[in-house]
Amino acid sequence: MRRFSRLAVLLGGVSGEREVSLRSGQRVMASLKRQGYQVVGIDPIDEDWLDRLRTTAVEGVFLALHGKGYEDGTVQGTLENIGLPYTGSGILASALGMNKIMAKRVFQAMEIPTPAYLPINLELDLDQQCEEAIEQIGFPLVVKPTSEGSSLGVSIVYQAEKLRWTVEKNRDFQENLFEQYIQGKEITVGLLGIGSQLRALPVLELIPQNKFYDYEAKYTEGMTQFVVPARLSETVNQMAQSIALRAHLALGCHGYSRVDMIIDATEQPFVTEVNTLPGLTELSDLPAQAEAAGISYDQLIAEILEST
Ligand SMILES: Nc1ncnc2c1ncn2[C@@H]1O[C@H](COP(=O)(O)OP(=O)(O)O)[C@@H](O)[C@H]1O
Ligand SMILES: [Mg+2]
Repeated sequence: MRRFSRLAVLLGGVSGEREVSLRSGQRVMASLKRQGYQVVGIDPIDEDWLDRLRTTAVEGVFLALHGKGYEDGTVQGTLENIGLPYTGSGILASALGMNKIMAKRVFQAMEIPTPAYLPINLELDLDQQCEEAIEQIGFPLVVKPTSEGSSLGVSIVYQAEKLRWTVEKNRDFQENLFEQYIQGKEITVGLLGIGSQLRALPVLELIPQNKFYDYEAKYTEGMTQFVVPARLSETVNQMAQSIALRAHLALGCHGYSRVDMIIDATEQPFVTEVNTLPGLTELSDLPAQAEAAGISYDQLIAEILEST
């Protein structure tokens, strides 16, 4: 028995990831229509989006939004207030997933491996903080914003002379952190399902042509090679999937998510972040991981919808 017949797909929005979201949303809408749902697309860039959502008599919302304001619990709170069920994680897990420092505090409490870090306080002595980071973590050092995406503001620093300048450069981001650089294989693991159905999808390996998976490598076709299933020993593969599952549960994620990790030279995976609304475009990681598990795009969308 289907719980819904009329659905809204929220897509677009005003975040830095608007274009990706539009592509995710178009594809989700086409899939839901194929599956017999009545679907209306609503874009929060329009001033009257909330009025439209309230007056179109939909029974639920499929979130195809990404980024700030949408992946951080904000839109989830709005939907809770108007009493509409929505796909994916709730307010708290979304907020934790979007904040790299808070997520790390949870990972550490739950003994989930994550690179060492130090929060940066732009109001306090920066030279002193740089020295502490060099002493406690050492080079190379990653400097990154706490709540961004798409690799915006992520730098890898190799020398003391460049550290303070790199931090200054990130002043426009509300909050930043120093992080231990992990040299190794970059992988991402999709999680799908609720309750006893929750499982890790096949691991996907990313091989960027650039020095790291930066903005250009993410959004220029041909700049990154995707390998699924990843070339890992069975032991490491299982370890990565089990850590991803623990990270998903530690933050309290719901329905689906995608956990990014780096595996170092000793084959230890480190969680760098949990994406609570991963991309659903034709080129996105999660649909490719699902396909490798024999789950078609329509089946993936149906299962995400069932989890609302
Ligand atoms: N600690 C790290 N060690 C090595 N590479 C890193 C580290 N942190 C980030 N990177 C590189 O930067 C990319 C973006 O960083 P990430 O923390 O995932 O931020 P975003 O939320 O912008 O995707 C990663 O995919 C990876 O290539
Ligand atoms: Mg990332």
